[in-house]
Amino acid sequence: MAGTCVIGLQWGDEAKGKLVDLLTSRFDVVVRYQGGANAGHTVVVGDKTYKLHHIPSGILNANVMNVVTPGVVINPPTILQELDSLASQGVKVAENLMLSDRAHVVFPWHIAEDRLRNEGGSGERESIGTTMRGIGPCYGDKVGRMNAVRLGDMFRPDFRERVNIITAGKNRLLSALGSTADQLDAAAIFDQYSGYAARLKPFVTDTTHYLLDQVEAGKKMLFEGAQGSLLDIDHGTFPYVTSSNASGVGVSAGSGVPGKWITKVLGVCKAYTTRVGGGPFPTELNNEMGNKIRELGREYGTTTGRPRRCGWFDAVAVRYTSRLSGIDAISLMMMDVLSLLPEIKICTAYEIDGERTNKFPSHVDDLRKVVPVYETIPGWETDVTKVRKIADLPTGARKYIDRVAELVGKPVEVVSVGPDRAQTMFAGSLAQ
Ligand code: IMP
Repeated sequence: MAGTCVIGLQWGDEAKGKLVDLLTSRFDVVVRYQGGANAGHTVVVGDKTYKLHHIPSGILNANVMNVVTPGVVINPPTILQELDSLASQGVKVAENLMLSDRAHVVFPWHIAEDRLRNEGGSGERESIGTTMRGIGPCYGDKVGRMNAVRLGDMFRPDFRERVNIITAGKNRLLSALGSTADQLDAAAIFDQYSGYAARLKPFVTDTTHYLLDQVEAGKKMLFEGAQGSLLDIDHGTFPYVTSSNASGVGVSAGSGVPGKWITKVLGVCKAYTTRVGGGPFPTELNNEMGNKIRELGREYGTTTGRPRRCGWFDAVAVRYTSRLSGIDAISLMMMDVLSLLPEIKICTAYEIDGERTNKFPSHVDDLRKVVPVYETIPGWETDVTKVRKIADLPTGARKYIDRVAELVGKPVEVVSVGPDRAQTMFAGSLAQ
């Protein structure tokens, strides 16, 4: 168990944070390696709810080191709010959080650009429906290399000059994109960000060396994925994706830990499917059933509060992402949400232009054409929220789990029946 990864297999919001929180005590280090404040991880412990965006869910365990690595983009005011909120809930962070000096920083110009592009300011065809957290523009500057600021740059003597130069260029860009807002004020941004830098300084370090030392010392690491594999920039439903490698392929690049140290990959999916934002979604239910699943599953975004689009479980998509992320086992979350439905559908294949296929298409235009082939499974219509062993679930629920495992081709080792820690059941290699 040198390195275990928790990876979302759908379009995000698969309850990965909850799983990471539960597994944390088995590890020495928890690592967040991609994404940024677009992620929203909710962890419920007893009567307390913690909402995290950048900080790994392992922060709730005082014996674990939490590391935010170079692949993450950090929004300083948001991470400071997270730190303040954790402190107000009595969670100590001083000794167990590290932020990479290589992580890129989100600035107000990124957020303004994200908003303008989403509003159609760039003339792009259909809005991606981003979280408006400046994620795409920040990663864009990282890859473009010229206008990027990393966390470590904020402590350098030329930081003021860089903010001046970048702000001037960004003001021109924002005007070209149709901004009617006031021009960004470089001096104000510098003052604000210097203040943030001072507060973040105790946590900022070279995490790459730290993690390499840890793996070589045989420490156990848990890698916490953000978003889901279908939102992966290279392998997801491009362009309706996020700007990082949200599938298992991103772990090594984002963290700096070589792939050979990763020994187990847990794929997390809901017992149905959700998606926030734009882009095709073959099993989407634009009807009463979709609304019912949304209400039963409280399917509203943690970060933006947007209602999530809901649909049936898509085994074609999950089989694809399971293979892509190299998963060993499935965590099937939110089983309780399906409990009251008289019958449940699973998409077992796609029909595209009259041809039946099990292959997830690489182009969104083909994904848009998909007619899902469904198998109908009788519902179990029994409350499962108090069940504590997978073997004690109603027969119908166990049949559903077995069918998911069969279609995806991997065993189900975790089943969750509610938001609380106690409502998660482990089997196979994860049972303790
Ligand atoms: P961005 O990451 O804000 O650029 O948004 C790109 C797409 O990814 C949009 O469809 C978002 O709704 C989606 N997205 C980003 N982060 C999350 C997440 O944590 N959960 C679910 N969807 C997300």
